[in-house]
Amino acid sequence: MKQQLEIIRASALEAIAQTTAAEELEALRVKYLGKKGELTAVLKQMGKLSAEERPIMGQIANEVRAALESAIDEARIRLAAAAMEQRLVDEALDVTIPGKPIRIGHKHPMYKALDEIKDIFVGMGFTVLDGPEVELATYNFDKLNAEEGHPSRDWSDTFYFDEDSRVMLRSQTSPMQVRAMETMKLPIRIIAPGRVYRKDEVDATHSPMFHQVEGMVIDKGVTMADLKGTLNAVMEQLFGEGTVTRFRPHHFPFTEPSCEMDVQCHKCGGKGCPTCKGEGWIEVLGAGMVHPKVLEMSGIDSEEYTGWAFGMGLERLAMRRFKIADLRLIFENDVRFLEQF
Ligand code: DAH
Repeated sequence: MKQQLEIIRASALEAIAQTTAAEELEALRVKYLGKKGELTAVLKQMGKLSAEERPIMGQIANEVRAALESAIDEARIRLAAAAMEQRLVDEALDVTIPGKPIRIGHKHPMYKALDEIKDIFVGMGFTVLDGPEVELATYNFDKLNAEEGHPSRDWSDTFYFDEDSRVMLRSQTSPMQVRAMETMKLPIRIIAPGRVYRKDEVDATHSPMFHQVEGMVIDKGVTMADLKGTLNAVMEQLFGEGTVTRFRPHHFPFTEPSCEMDVQCHKCGGKGCPTCKGEGWIEVLGAGMVHPKVLEMSGIDSEEYTGWAFGMGLERLAMRRFKIADLRLIFENDVRFLEQF
């Protein structure tokens, strides 16, 4: 029996020393010390021993048990340390690896131009308004004095949502004039930038969606001189001191008199070149004195108040400001193009 115990001790200690995993160690513990384990099996034979042998064997058996238990405890600590070591290796973070560069975007040239325009007008005491792109024909046309039958109301020009032509994608930012007059206290000084929609084919100068900036001033004693003075000052701030402008008569249903404003071509100084298509001038906006009928329709007394208004194409202005030749570049959003500004 003594020999049996020594064999168990030797083989168990060797096996325990070689374990590399916690489950293996547990299996060994069961194998030797468990209820049906090898040591237990030997102890069960103690009854067969003589009274003299029994305490001696009992002592050896206890020693073997204690030796196995402490070997198992030690192995458990060893395995736990090794597991921790492995985790530290596996989860190590190399803080010296160079990071992935983060691409920082930047402002689109058109919105850069818009920011400049907003700054200029805000500096003159204007408020910036935002309004709906899905608009009522009442605001887009009726209250702007563009009556039924006006060419721009045609289905070939305008995106309508209903058969009665009452709900539409706004074709201009001018309905913001009406919305401002109906909701704001006088005097009014506003600009209203935003998207507008027309049934145009895409080419170098056209897009079915583009941007306008509307502007309007209503106060007592406002004249055409204020319109010209303000817009000239704006163009000088945008395009540089000494920028030359001219005003040509035109027609819009919501202004009387109406005009268009041109800026002298920056490339040729008015002589005529490809940039200005030989004209020497580049058209930048439509404007005029707000029609008395338009004031009255929005509940403003046209005897007491007068006003002027303008609407400019933002893309065209940005193209001039940043010397961009093709409108499509503005909408394509190719980063190789955008990164240049
Ligand atoms: N809404 C006009 C257009 O889209 C531009 C315009 C002209 C706006 C004269 C105005 C204005 O406010 O007074 O062509």
